[in-house]
Amino acid sequence: MSMHKIDIELVEMTLDVMKYAIDRISSTKNKIGKPKSAEQLKALVGETVTEKGIGGEYAFNLWKKHLMKANVPVDHPRNLAFVPASPTRAAVMFDLVTSASSIHGAYWMEGAGGIFCENEAMKWIVSLTGLPEGAFGVFTSGGTAANLSAIVTAREYWRQNKSYQREKGLIIASIGAHSSIKAMAKVADVDIILVESEERLTGEDLKKAINQLTEHQRKCLFAVVGTGGTTNAGIIDDLDGIATVCENENLWFHVDAAYGGGALAADSVRHLFNGIEKADSITIDPHKWMFSPYDCGAVLYKKPELAKQAHSQQGSYLDIFKDEGAHGFNPTDYQIQLTRRVRGLPLWFSLATHGTDRYKEAVERGLELAQIAGKMIDKNPNVELVREPSLSCVLYRRIGWKPEDYTHWTYENHKKGFALVTPTKWKNGDTFETVSRFCFINPDTTENDIEMILNSME
Ligand SMILES: Cc1ncc(COP(=O)(O)O)c(C=O)c1O
Repeated sequence: MSMHKIDIELVEMTLDVMKYAIDRISSTKNKIGKPKSAEQLKALVGETVTEKGIGGEYAFNLWKKHLMKANVPVDHPRNLAFVPASPTRAAVMFDLVTSASSIHGAYWMEGAGGIFCENEAMKWIVSLTGLPEGAFGVFTSGGTAANLSAIVTAREYWRQNKSYQREKGLIIASIGAHSSIKAMAKVADVDIILVESEERLTGEDLKKAINQLTEHQRKCLFAVVGTGGTTNAGIIDDLDGIATVCENENLWFHVDAAYGGGALAADSVRHLFNGIEKADSITIDPHKWMFSPYDCGAVLYKKPELAKQAHSQQGSYLDIFKDEGAHGFNPTDYQIQLTRRVRGLPLWFSLATHGTDRYKEAVERGLELAQIAGKMIDKNPNVELVREPSLSCVLYRRIGWKPEDYTHWTYENHKKGFALVTPTKWKNGDTFETVSRFCFINPDTTENDIEMILNSME
């Protein structure tokens, strides 16, 4: 029997999968799974990929019984580690529809319906930034791919000037910038200078850093990365000040708002992002604070045609997609990927279902939870704030704890299936102190959740 044919087993399997998806989407009691080693998992499930196959029902049972339980759902209300996520149920549902629809999202000719929806969602994201008329963006696999697409666009634009064509480019960011900025500078083979502060990078700091460059370094400097919500502490750089320096120095200004970008929707903090409208490119991850399922990042450009010059792929087999008869917006032209899932589709459906006001409210709740946690920490004699909460990040120390105490506590809570809260480091003078960190995304996290976590540090 061919594996592409329909038979009764397939129908039954489809119903099983749908039942699983319905249970998962409607459940409010998902557990924090316990990680297991690959050897332990292998011992539990045995050989799964064989010449004859083990059968869908058996494989699915292994998934439900053992494998799923070794994952930590990012949307658990007590998962406050790294940048968690909390996709809306509507978005998750439409992720299933996206998969079932088999859409190639690279070119309008093949994916017009899906790309149209993505673009409707993108218009809302662009409107939050205040970028000028003509600005637009595309959905990427995440912030890393968005940052790379932006850096490469900036570098290619810089290299249009013949005197730079044989030079290795240079960018400036701060040590607060996300690890992907450094990683993507490596991929793009550009040098990077990091301003030695994890606090807010200002226009003045940037000017100082530029003044310290050698003549050759200054020649090679083509872009600056500001962060709109650092991953570690939720700090928003002085985007307006940095934009002014970039304008005066003729530098590309990229804002990495992969995590913080969702907060552009929140009236209470929107002013902190002033200056973002002057950026040449912006990264915003809907899979972080815009409640999309993985994976869904986005890169926005003030002048999308520059991204097209950098990323549009050429090949005789692709000509038809660019023919006049195939007219339309081709997402592949604006980022590093050719074949792509229409990964903005779940966001579109959720936005269409709920409206943008619900998004504002959900983001405001994350901000509020950080303030509530800050007050609880102030009142609790065992812990103290390392700095005031910023966006939805809270850094705090357990008085008297050594780094290994934080690690032990994290493992214990994880093993119990109670919470995932991980330590980080914060620069304190010349040293880095190990501290605890909350990052709130999920509006279903309760004050009781926070209290229980703090009490577990006694
Ligand atoms: C500020 C920032 N930039 C970039 C990234 C990388 O995004 P992704 O993990 O989606 O590639 C992150 C991830 O946390 C981030 O917080």
